[in-house]
Amino acid sequence: MMQEHKNKMNWPWWPLFPLYPYGTKKTINKELVPNVIWSFEQLQGLYYVAVPIRMTVLKVDDGLMLINPIPPTEEVINEIKKLTAIHGQVKTIVLPTSSGLEHKIGLPALARYFEDAEIWLSPGQWSFPINLPLSFIGIPKRRTRILFEDGLPFEALCDWSSLGPIDLGLGRFQEVSCFHKPTGSLIVTDSIIGIDENPPDIFDHDPTPLLFHSRDRGDEQLIDTNKSRKKGWARLVLFSIFLKPNKLKIPSISEIYRFSFYKGLRNIKSHFGIYPFLWQEDWEKSAQKIIGKTSSPIIQIAPVLQKLILPRSVDILKKWLELIKDFDGLQLLISAHYSAPIKFTRTECEKLIAEIDSGEWDMSKEDSEFLSILYKRLFDLGIIPKENKY
Ligand SMILES: [Fe+2]
Repeated sequence: MMQEHKNKMNWPWWPLFPLYPYGTKKTINKELVPNVIWSFEQLQGLYYVAVPIRMTVLKVDDGLMLINPIPPTEEVINEIKKLTAIHGQVKTIVLPTSSGLEHKIGLPALARYFEDAEIWLSPGQWSFPINLPLSFIGIPKRRTRILFEDGLPFEALCDWSSLGPIDLGLGRFQEVSCFHKPTGSLIVTDSIIGIDENPPDIFDHDPTPLLFHSRDRGDEQLIDTNKSRKKGWARLVLFSIFLKPNKLKIPSISEIYRFSFYKGLRNIKSHFGIYPFLWQEDWEKSAQKIIGKTSSPIIQIAPVLQKLILPRSVDILKKWLELIKDFDGLQLLISAHYSAPIKFTRTECEKLIAEIDSGEWDMSKEDSEFLSILYKRLFDLGIIPKENKY
């Protein structure tokens, strides 16, 4: 049994993957709610498995609040400066997750740049593999506050609610969401996502990751069409949602090599034709379960959370959903990944709760097999504790 788990978990390529998009980070800035909420999106990922990550900027009393930090490139700073010129200074930066590493990496640099801003953190920050003091990882202690423990920022404007904490053994999962009362917008990090079939605009800058994955073999050229972009996007979503989707196999080394280094593909952009993936014919069915139409993204609890964090803590998730569904005037969801803003009212929230109650929320059992096995293995090894200590 153990051996079988081990084989299913075998995913030897990950450590070799070069970082994408290497040193260059394009940012797309959009106004989500006129004069009140803006989105700053960048790509983040490994080996072209790049998913957009979003910082949300909110107009507060006489300035701005940044939620879910991203690395502050010159482009980001310039765009924020355009907003501060109209709406006032950056007052507050919020890191609302205690576990999502990808949302933490931008914080120290962002905090250094906006030196008068208060920094608010989700409780129980930890850095893997060793727990370092905040000041050591570049978060200035003097102006740092902990959400709930030290109060809450802009309480007249925002209702703050917490999903978790949940004990992960190595640290904790906790995500603090911000409900912006004037616009009815719920700003979350990783917990609830909505995905639609159209690749995010950030890929217009460089569609290579989409085109790379739209192929079936390494010797195919990267051809840019709407169809190939959509196909590549669906596969990227499957990768990023399930880590190893069930419909994806890894060909043998000789097979990979056979289709590599073809003419026109001997460049870094095409990874020299090395394409270590083999999608099974019905892979699209898996994508259809989690990807909606442009006008109606499929709203779901992120499968990684479902499988790795929530199996023992469904009651904590439900308690949080019950709380947010009662927010007065709930209208929009703005998540740190995928589509935003999405229509999200009491009805959508009740639907999520009903799906959990009926077991329907686990709509991609086959595809999340890898995640389930990973959870079981971490649990069996005692890395995930049996009880939630919080
Ligand atoms: Fe995230």
